[in-house]
Amino acid sequence: QRNQSFYDAVGKEKIDELVEAFYKRVQQHPDLIPIFPDDFTETIRKQKQFLTQFFGGPPLYVEEHGHPMLRARHLPFEITPARRDAWLSCMSGAMTEVDLEEPYRSAMFDRLVKTANHMMNTPEDEK
Ligand code: HEM
Repeated sequence: QRNQSFYDAVGKEKIDELVEAFYKRVQQHPDLIPIFPDDFTETIRKQKQFLTQFFGGPPLYVEEHGHPMLRARHLPFEITPARRDAWLSCMSGAMTEVDLEEPYRSAMFDRLVKTANHMMNTPEDEK
């Protein structure tokens, strides 16, 4: 049906499960461990809020934290092309784990690729 968001199509449960499966991978990825906190509780909570709104659900992130300003919020972390690839590979694995169905999977992944490209702030050789 027209104007149905990804959030409506896949549902709140699926987005929450996706975030859990994603950070389980991030926590084990050698390229990502150095820039993430030891405790992922707050990271997971914020990412559930963010992806809910990013995919067209209620604006949970902005209600609690204000404008996302994602690129600015990522500037304290060195985000190289390798870390972007690592982030996206964790996301792809998580999408498989939670069985996110097509065509939503590919369309959602494409949006995340665009945002991930925008987050890069450090060339590989300056790491
Ligand atoms: C926070 C890394 C891409 C959304 C963070 C944090 C790190 C990080 C280290 C801080 C975690 C914390 O202190 O709790 C990365 C890397 C990326 C990437 C390496 C690779 C390109 C993205 C993308 C999105 C995103 C594509 C959204 C689609 C967020 C959000 C937060 C966050 C919402 C929480 C911001 C806050 O503190 O309120 N990210 N990120 N990130 N990231 Fe990313």
